[in-house]
Amino acid sequence: MIKADQLRKGLRTRHFGRRIFTFETIDSTNTCAKVLASCWAVEGTVIIAEEQTDGRGRLGRTWFASPGQNLTFSLVLRPPGPADDLNLLPLFVGVAVADAVQNLTGLPAKCKWPNDIMINERKTAGILIEGSMKDSSVEFVIVGIGINVNQREFPPDLSEKATSLALELGTEVDRAELFREIMRSLESRYEALRECGFQSIIPLWTERTSMIGRKISVSQNGVLMEGVAQGINEQGALVLGNNGNSVALMAGDVTILDHGFPAH
Ligand code: BTN
Repeated sequence: MIKADQLRKGLRTRHFGRRIFTFETIDSTNTCAKVLASCWAVEGTVIIAEEQTDGRGRLGRTWFASPGQNLTFSLVLRPPGPADDLNLLPLFVGVAVADAVQNLTGLPAKCKWPNDIMINERKTAGILIEGSMKDSSVEFVIVGIGINVNQREFPPDLSEKATSLALELGTEVDRAELFREIMRSLESRYEALRECGFQSIIPLWTERTSMIGRKISVSQNGVLMEGVAQGINEQGALVLGNNGNSVALMAGDVTILDHGFPAH
């Protein structure tokens, strides 16, 4: 089992990942982080598990990860700004994780709205952000991150859509090293965004995605919309263009329809 000491050894952060709770098996690291954050856990606390029995994804889905091969963890944040900034948090986390993956492995990690990390058009990591409000301000935010690191086999329904770093690289990746790189990347971006404002993530995210200009479909509450991904607005919504009209979507599930060059 991955040990807290092993994860902290060589960690280049001031707060993120300095307090780590490791579990062999847990229901969900996000659920555990919420309980700890509502009592005492300081910003930067991490809960990490080798296996989740009830790992949760976006939109009520389940997050599957083979035990002992991947990274599944949750980070406690206590952002001071307005609740509106929370809409931009998934973009910030996506950019920080993609930067870390690319720095360590050299693989071309791309962000897919709202919060997936793709390599060669296949999903490699997912992010689940859950917040708690108190008296109309943010009490805490839990950033849950699942990364397919050394898993090489996926269930049949995922095998076309998912990949792992080991599959893309052809060699195993040191999970502790990757964890430390992600902590460093998240902390340095978080500090920069707190200084410059969360909206400064929008151009960085736009540089880190391959979605813009492409034909996509977005499913939102059972309704399917098609169009061209035009960009991200100031609230972090995806702007979808169709026949000269555009619509801003705050949530949804995106499928890329063209697998060639961007549409014009
Ligand atoms: C998604 O792509 O739908 C988001 C997946 C998020 C999975 C991570 S694994 C660690 C943390 N604990 C959870 O239960 N979920 C997140």
